[in-house]
Amino acid sequence: MTQIIPSILVQSEDEFRKCLDGLSGAVPHVQLDIADGVFVPNATWGNPDVIRKLKKITVELHLMVANPLSELERWKGVKTITRALFHYESGDDLPKIIQIIQDQGWQAGLVLNPGTPIEVLTPYLNTIQAVQFMGVHPGFQGQEFLHETPGKIQNFKKLGTAHFTELDGGVNEETLPKIIKSGVDAICPGSAVFGNEKSPKENVEKMKTLIENYSKV
Ligand code: DX5
Repeated sequence: MTQIIPSILVQSEDEFRKCLDGLSGAVPHVQLDIADGVFVPNATWGNPDVIRKLKKITVELHLMVANPLSELERWKGVKTITRALFHYESGDDLPKIIQIIQDQGWQAGLVLNPGTPIEVLTPYLNTIQAVQFMGVHPGFQGQEFLHETPGKIQNFKKLGTAHFTELDGGVNEETLPKIIKSGVDAICPGSAVFGNEKSPKENVEKMKTLIENYSKV
């Protein structure tokens, strides 16, 4: 069953805690968006000291930063992190970044922007554990889904590798059917979970039901 990994893109610790409280245990794992205002035109909150103290939930980092190596320095030793995903387009020494992530005992993942072809992954497929496909141009929540993304995921899945695949950006009730059909392992909804009048928990439970239904057809 496709895993739901809610994507938390916030500007403060209070906002972050509000997201977690709203989820109230609906998921065991979330994705924290880390944007530096350089790689993407937005800057977000992300404090390792808060994340390291979390209980009963694990975190993966989505690094939307121009310098993943220096950003990762801040996160070393944070045991509540299980995966770090960074953009292919941002790294200048991808093998080194992957190694630094894996030295922490975390899974390493590469993120592809919409315009980046899956072929760029070839040299790294033997070392990374995950691939994240952006369904929007990164930086903000609530953007229009790019409908070519499920096909891109299907093309990657045809390679028959064991990589954990995620789709991030533009996941909602309308785009879900095609996304589930792509066979992606996980979706990272942001505004569909945190951006409406229902509680995040309700939104997640509704999405779980939809995934079950779409997975039957
Ligand atoms: C986009 C972020 C996504 C975003 C998803 O820059 O990386 O994680 O928060 O938000 P929605 O689901 O609203 O597109």
